[in-house]
Amino acid sequence: MNRTPFSKKTRIVVIGTGAVGSTTAYTLLLRGRMDELVLIDANAEKAKGDALDMNHGMPFLGNTDVWAGTYEDCRDADIVIITAGAAQKPGESRIDLLKRNAAILESITDEVLKYNKDGILLVASNPVDVMSYLTWRKSGWPARRVIGSGTLLDSARFRYLIGQELQVDPRSVHAHIVGEHGDSELPLWSLSNIAGGQLSLNEEKKAEIFANTRDAAYQIIEAKGATYYAIALALDRICTAILRSEAAVLNVSTLLKDYHGISDVYLGVPCVVDRTGVREVLGLQITEEERQRLQASADKLKGVIASIGL
Ligand code: 2OP
Repeated sequence: MNRTPFSKKTRIVVIGTGAVGSTTAYTLLLRGRMDELVLIDANAEKAKGDALDMNHGMPFLGNTDVWAGTYEDCRDADIVIITAGAAQKPGESRIDLLKRNAAILESITDEVLKYNKDGILLVASNPVDVMSYLTWRKSGWPARRVIGSGTLLDSARFRYLIGQELQVDPRSVHAHIVGEHGDSELPLWSLSNIAGGQLSLNEEKKAEIFANTRDAAYQIIEAKGATYYAIALALDRICTAILRSEAAVLNVSTLLKDYHGISDVYLGVPCVVDRTGVREVLGLQITEEERQRLQASADKLKGVIASIGL
């Protein structure tokens, strides 16, 4: 459908309606983030069922068109969220999903690109930093328009746990997890604060909070097989920053160019996100120890990227 500027509606496409995709779609719908929501899944019946189920809630919500679509519906999309692919089973790391998901992401990117040239691709499939890098390379788009969910979720877990410990609303806790969304991620304790004040946590407590942050997904997968509520809220947060051009600082995964000496890899770092995507990566002062750990995380992911011949 061709649209004039006057009839431009906001459209989000969610590719992959497994636990993460369908929960993300539902979160976006409840929060009224877009005019049109398109669901695409390799299992067309699943996407159809989800769309029907959500449409039956319209008398309670109203005003959003939801349908199970095809890649052609990516044509007018402002944001295409990719959640497709295999998810971790108990005991598996995100990196274990590599080969299965790389092939899936490549074919999805090919399909999306047939119809969309100027939207934003938001990747959530794991291992998310590698999948985002691969999608960016395949797309040929400016890196600012290919964004990974990165360590936004990890940072939310971190802020929640710090907030619990210090009995402060997590929204008032400024704290960042950076690097791989996975086992080599690291906390930026040197930049973490509440109202600018240092966190009153001893080293033992800090180590415990970080370990619980890093291993949170393993705990949840062990307990119920998958994680989806918090990642859905994180993806909703990124979509909102884009659609409202908020220039919000979010720890998304983006292409690094000489960031503390690190280049040509996607990693989660604090970025300014607006209508154009990642407007800029914040240049932050970190300690030498943090820099070395970030470098190690980058080196690990570069090894993984090389292993799939990119
Ligand atoms: C998470 O961290 C599994 O990457 C997913 O919840």
